Order: sequence, then structure tokens, then C-alpha cells
Amino acid sequence: MEQESSKSLQKLRGLRREHKELINLMPLQTGGILTNAAREALIEFADGYSVCDFCQGSLCNVSNPPIRDFVQELLPQFLGCEVATVTHGAREAKFMIMHSLARPGDSILVDANKHYTTVVAAERVGLNVIEVPNSGHPEFKVDVNEYAPLIKEHAPKLILLTYPDGNYGNLPDAKRLGEISQEYDIPYVLNGAYAVGRMPLSMEQIGVDFIVGSGHKSMASAGPAGVTGMKKKWEEVVLRKSGKYRNKDIELLGCSIRGVPLITLMASFPSVKERVQHWDEQVSKAQWFSAELEKLGFRQLGEKPHRHDLLHFDAPALYEISKRVREKGYFVYKELKERGIWGPQPGLARSFKVSTFAVDRQQLGYVIDSFKAILSKYA
Ligand SMILES: Cc1ncc(COP(=O)(O)O)c(C=O)c1O
Repeated sequence: MEQESSKSLQKLRGLRREHKELINLMPLQTGGILTNAAREALIEFADGYSVCDFCQGSLCNVSNPPIRDFVQELLPQFLGCEVATVTHGAREAKFMIMHSLARPGDSILVDANKHYTTVVAAERVGLNVIEVPNSGHPEFKVDVNEYAPLIKEHAPKLILLTYPDGNYGNLPDAKRLGEISQEYDIPYVLNGAYAVGRMPLSMEQIGVDFIVGSGHKSMASAGPAGVTGMKKKWEEVVLRKSGKYRNKDIELLGCSIRGVPLITLMASFPSVKERVQHWDEQVSKAQWFSAELEKLGFRQLGEKPHRHDLLHFDAPALYEISKRVREKGYFVYKELKERGIWGPQPGLARSFKVSTFAVDRQQLGYVIDSFKAILSKYA
């Protein structure tokens, strides 16, 4: 037993990450790669409660480092909202909102492309989750007009839209859903885990009550970190304070991200604010890459033309190869890794997801050539 535990301790020495230097196409990771400024701040503020040197009881009011300016001025401008806060991630934000607006046994309405964390957050509150269907293979589109009859039928406490979803990168008509939510006077939550920090987005322009973002997913931040914007009218409901400790948020258990994740989120923010202005270039790069992979026989799922860097492909040719090689589906991972590429989920060959966000066209050209080489190697 003692021998085993010393082996386990040994493994904790000199921890390293294998894929750090590879071309990164992993959808979960491309938007969360730190800026140099964040990498520096990470070391500077690495110690535990580092951001709390001058805290007077409320994280979002700390002026050194400038958390107050970030949360109370910069984030609301960026999100186009009246009030903002920081959370541990998108899922915690969704839970916080659901827990504040609904009671066990209530229903909520979400799109069929929702992330699993939406459902788990609802389960934790004890809610019934009703789904607005998608159009199925190959586009999996959500028509937001289908929310209206389901609102009438189920009287949900809130509606939620995933924008874009994490499976196909589809961007449904969020603005139209804003009109519907106003017509029925139902609070509307936009899950922008893959949008906030990648593309320009204004809560006010879309007409939502809440917007949820993920720092480690799309804001060049260490994890776990998230942001939430809301209309002023929800501040008292969602950011209500403890009866005993007047400056402590109940839903956030006092304070949320208190250390490295927050400081990296802040340090990257100037670059993130700037990078969303170049979203058009991201979209055209993704479309070009998708068209090139389709020439190799892969089929892009989700909306076409695609409007996001997250791309999902059916890959029948890779699947056929996986059936006859020793490594099965892992051969794709192995072949790509040997070529310095990291992205598609190891083990999957029938279909795979990639994100073109963190790489340039030249690197993508190399990725395309690598797929060509793999296909011809096994032809
Ligand atoms: C669409 C979507 N929403 C939410 C999440 C969860 O984000 P977080 O880790 O910030 O809770 C993910 C993560 O994969 C996602 O893809």
C-alpha cells in the first residue's frame, strides 16, 4: 500500500502536458489559449487568494487589482448588458440563474442542441427540461419559432438557447427568440460559451435577459472562469445578498473566482475585446477549411454555409480504415499526432469535431495536406 502511494506521489512530480506545442484544433481548447499577458499574470498571481490583498468583503468591488472596473464597467460594455458578474464557468452561471428564477417541479424550455451542463444544472434545481427539437441529420438546425407553441403548452419559467451549440457550431436566430420571449414575457438565457470572447455579441441587441460566457472556453483564460451579463431588473433576484453578510452573494457562495482564473480572464481581456472585431476572418477561414475537407470526402454537419469555427465532419473514409487497422479509431489520433496535430477526440474516426479558431491558414493548409497523406497512406 505504502509502495503504491509512493508511486502515485512520484507521478505528481514534474507534471507536463503532451500536446502543448502541437497545432491545436481541439474545440474545447482553442478559444481558451492564454495570451502572453495572461501567462505573465498567471505567475504573478499564482498564489492562492492572490487577488484578495485589498478585498473589503466583495470580490467584484476590489480595486487593486482592478476587478471592480473589469466587472462593473468593462464587462457590461463588452456584453451589452446592464449588470455583470464573474462565475466559475458557464454551467455555474446557468445553475445560478435557474436556481434563482425557478423552483423544483417547474419547467424550462431549451434547444435540442443544448450542452449537457444545461440539463445537469436544471436537474440540480429539480426542473423539468422540455426540448425544442432540431432538424436532425445533417444540419441539426433549431428553428426558434418552435419555442412559441411549447411556451404556450408548458408555461416555462425561462427559455434557454445555446448559441452556438458545442456539437455542430450552429447559430440559431437568437434575435427572433428575443422577440418571442418579450411577446410571452419569459426570461431568456443565451448560452454563449462558444460565442462570448470569439465573436461580437450584444445582449441588448439580441434582446436577452441573461448572457452566459465561459472564460476557459472562449476568453483566453485559465479555468475555471465564466462571465454573466443580465438586465438590471434581475440583479436583485440573481445577485441577492446574504441576510447575515451584506456584501456576499448567496448564489456565488460569497465570492466566485478568487485567484488565477480571474486574473488571466482580466489580463487577456484587452486582446479578447480586440479579437472579436476579426470574427469575419475567422468565419471565412472556417468555411474555406470545411470546403477543402469536403473535397477529401468528409461531410460537414451543421449549418451551411457555416458561421462558426467549430466544425463537425462525418468521415466515412476514415471509418472504413479504422475497421481494418490494429489501432481501430485511434489511428487518426496517432497519425495526426505524428504530424504535430492535436484536435479530433482520440478514438473517434466515424466523425470528428475541430475548431479552426487558434490556427492560421498556413497551418490549416498543413492540416488538410496531412489528412490527404493519411488517406493515401491507407488507400
Ligand atoms: C455549449 C456549451 N455550453 C457550456 C459549456 C460548459 O462550459 P463551462 O466549462 O464554462 O461550464 C460547454 C463546454 O463544453 C459548451 O460547449
